[in-house]
Amino acid sequence: MEFPDYIKNTKLKEWVEEMVALCQPDQVYFCDGSQEEYDRLCNEMVEAGTFIRLNPEKRPNCFLARSDPSDVARVEDRTYICSISKNDAGPTNNWMAPKEMKETLQPLFTGCMRGRTMYVIPFSMGPLGSPIAHIGIEITDSAYVVVNMKIMTRMGKAVYDVLGEDGEYIPCIHTVGAPLEPGQKDVPWPCNPTTKYIVHYPEERAIWSYGSGYGGNALLGKKCFALRIASVMARQEGWLAEHMLIVGVKEPNGRKTYVAAAFPSACGKTNFAMLVPPKDFKAEGWEVTTVGDDIAWIKPGKDGKLYAINPESGYFGVAPGTSYHTNASAMESCARDTIFTNVALTDDGDVWWEGMTKEKPAHAIDWKGNDWTPESSTPAAHANARFTAPATNNPVLDPAWDDPAGVPIEAFVFGGRRSTTVPLVYQAFNWNYGVYLAATMGSETTAAAFGQMGVVRRDPFAQLPFAGYHMGDYINHWLQFGREIYNPPRIFGVNWFRKDAEGNFAWPGFGENMRALKWIVQRAHSEVPSVESPIGWLPNYEHLDLRGLEFSREQFDQIMKLNIDDWQKEVLLHEELFIKLYDRLPKEMINVRELILSSLWRTPENWGPTHE
Ligand code: GTP
Ligand code: SPV
Ligand code: MN
Repeated sequence: MEFPDYIKNTKLKEWVEEMVALCQPDQVYFCDGSQEEYDRLCNEMVEAGTFIRLNPEKRPNCFLARSDPSDVARVEDRTYICSISKNDAGPTNNWMAPKEMKETLQPLFTGCMRGRTMYVIPFSMGPLGSPIAHIGIEITDSAYVVVNMKIMTRMGKAVYDVLGEDGEYIPCIHTVGAPLEPGQKDVPWPCNPTTKYIVHYPEERAIWSYGSGYGGNALLGKKCFALRIASVMARQEGWLAEHMLIVGVKEPNGRKTYVAAAFPSACGKTNFAMLVPPKDFKAEGWEVTTVGDDIAWIKPGKDGKLYAINPESGYFGVAPGTSYHTNASAMESCARDTIFTNVALTDDGDVWWEGMTKEKPAHAIDWKGNDWTPESSTPAAHANARFTAPATNNPVLDPAWDDPAGVPIEAFVFGGRRSTTVPLVYQAFNWNYGVYLAATMGSETTAAAFGQMGVVRRDPFAQLPFAGYHMGDYINHWLQFGREIYNPPRIFGVNWFRKDAEGNFAWPGFGENMRALKWIVQRAHSEVPSVESPIGWLPNYEHLDLRGLEFSREQFDQIMKLNIDDWQKEVLLHEELFIKLYDRLPKEMINVRELILSSLWRTPENWGPTHE
């Protein structure tokens, strides 16, 4: 086989040859990551009907893709961690023995790229050459994947220079699983409607993905590599690979604090990462800037601090609910150079989704390609419709977002989507309590994954679908990680989604979350008082900065109070997780649970920071 002369890595060449023999593509194309290549592939997809070019006056250099209606989200029940030992994958992951999985995949991958082009994509997760970054090579038969990877990762020829002749990379093989017979016409969104496998071999550090063209199933640098495989590497090597945004907070006095926050899928990371402070805060000089919106790789530095990078270079953001009112920076990020998937197309060649504007367009083409009007009984955009936008479009991009050294993290935040029980913001008493808080986090399920929506499930560290190994070991890794740092970051819990008796959000959220963020930053520097509660330190009404927001003491109580009944039930749900993880559950979890129970037992029924 002929390789471009800049590819010198022997192992890589052998692997590509092996994959060509297996997948039998019509041709092999080595991506160089150039703009010319990106434009050419986009044009080809317009011709093939995969992309619709949007109105260049309204959305310059933007495209719309409509997926197959069956291929709209991650498929957690088709996602496997194939470790040699079943118990290393743990009870929260699907598992199959590597040998058995390989026997299953072999016939599926044989000839899977017939009639298609095989693209070889070199990419770096993290700034090229950063000591925290790692390299991957994705082989795919989807041009949609190539152009998305161009936005989402540092993709291109330069990766081969860092890789050299014998450098390490994570091999990622992806196929839409829809080979073309001679003369068969292709469809705009090929995928396999019945068979999907998203497979990880943690010991080999390899990824095999079959049958889906969508997001986290197909852009293998993201959840498959940067979380599932990287979490295994991180545990072995003493670092963290987390489903976290990274945000910079600059105070009026110029002090900069970086905060990393883990919320489950579709629970507010992109929004929090681009938060626009309320008017009074801005006037005073508060600034919030984005390092990353979905994934953080964190390593201890020689100075004892934790340094984090965003391994990605773009945003694969949830479209519905995004507006100039809720997230202006996300709107600016996707104003140009963006790929939209499963949003609606307006009559003037622009995009629309639920929540984007108050006024709905009188007519649009919905995400399935059908006519849509406000009277239609179905949504215009799919609930998990996404934009793929380059980070460099973000007007509040942090100056250090691309720094190979990373940024120092001083607080960790964990938050689920909970309509009851969990207060707006609280601080864990110490690292062990914080790990307990993170490990027992619950959240109502969303459209980001296939399955029932709105049911509370335990989502430890917002990593339930993304941990590449046993969740009990995951908790232990976090405990150990904290022990080795002299002064570990403070750990906080948040909940933007508590509802009132009428079922409305009791907290305005979005930019107003700055008020909780300010408290978090001040607490991280031990600068503001708090009240002790059974689960941690809470702000009192006086110390949560609510200036400019009409928010009464009663409203504050509603979002802060701990209902003892609810919390006793909550602890029973923690217990359900603990029983599942029994054989590898760190004893600290049981001890902290006991301490929480002991203080819950003495507490008045509705404990709140303003309780008299
Ligand atoms: P993934 O990309 O799936 O990991 O999601 P994410 O965690 O980045 O979530 P994102 O910020 O895209 O928000 C998901 C949904 O939650 C959107 O519809 C938002 O409008 C909504 N949302 C985000 N923040 C808030 C908030 O503070 N309050 C309320 N009520 N909704 C929010
Ligand atoms: C998520 O589901 O957490 C996402 C989208 O960020 S995906 O890339 O599909 O995983
Ligand atoms: Mn995510």
